[in-house]
Amino acid sequence: MALRNTARRWGAIAQVFHWVIVALIVVQVTLAEMADDLPNGMRKLTLLARHKSVGITILGLVILRLAWRWLNEHPPLPENLKRYEQALARFSHAALYVLLIAVPLSGWTMSSARGFPVSWFGFWQLPDLVPKSRPLYEALLTTHHTLAWTLLAVIALHVLGALKHHFWHKDDVLKRMLPFTRT
Ligand code: HEM
Ligand code: HEM
Repeated sequence: MALRNTARRWGAIAQVFHWVIVALIVVQVTLAEMADDLPNGMRKLTLLARHKSVGITILGLVILRLAWRWLNEHPPLPENLKRYEQALARFSHAALYVLLIAVPLSGWTMSSARGFPVSWFGFWQLPDLVPKSRPLYEALLTTHHTLAWTLLAVIALHVLGALKHHFWHKDDVLKRMLPFTRT
């Protein structure tokens, strides 16, 4: 399979970005939910430290993914889609990119406001984005939760859309994002 995208399908690099980020979002939500169920203590802090490191990894990968998208052509949406369907697809993809950046940034800012520095798997300590402030932390906690659940809602719509293409329209949209398939 070609590394770069073509006018017919996503290349290997774009596919790796897509599916690695999907896997990391699953890990990310699992870690957050496991931490949420625990009382305050070392185990909770360890899970949240992992959640922060995985979240920063997602942020880095999304920036690289957008740069790669910009450097490449990409397959156009099928022409037989109605105008509102094309608009919905474009809007939901843009919303996914915005949220994939906004959710980790809100988490990072929230941790800074709480006074807990963020490190990437213990290798790098990231700078604090804002000074310590209790009211700001509380506002950002609500923001992080709301943005994260909005991201999950848009992902649900996106997955339904991909399945509709495959099973209803019977077009190549899902296959061109999957490895080992022919379009
Ligand atoms: C795409 C990336 C991310 C996703 C999808 C995500 C998702 C979530 C979700 C769903 C929760 C809430 C769990 C619950 O209470 O029900 C949460 C909590 C949390 N997130 Fe994230 N997060 C991301 C990135 C980050 C980053 C980068 C940081 C910090 C650097 C971070 C820090 C936190 C913290 C500290 C909590 C616990 C807040 C609390 O309840 O005290 N998150 N995250
Ligand atoms: C965490 C979950 C997911 C996220 C964050 C996500 C994100 C994205 C984004 C941002 C794009 C736009 C690509 C671009 O135009 O640059 C995309 C494309 C795509 N995604 Fe996902 N996705 C997720 C899960 C899934 C799943 C589970 C499926 C399959 C059921 C899927 C199928 C597709 C397909 C087929 C495309 C290509 C659409 C096209 O060629 O026009 N995605 N995804």
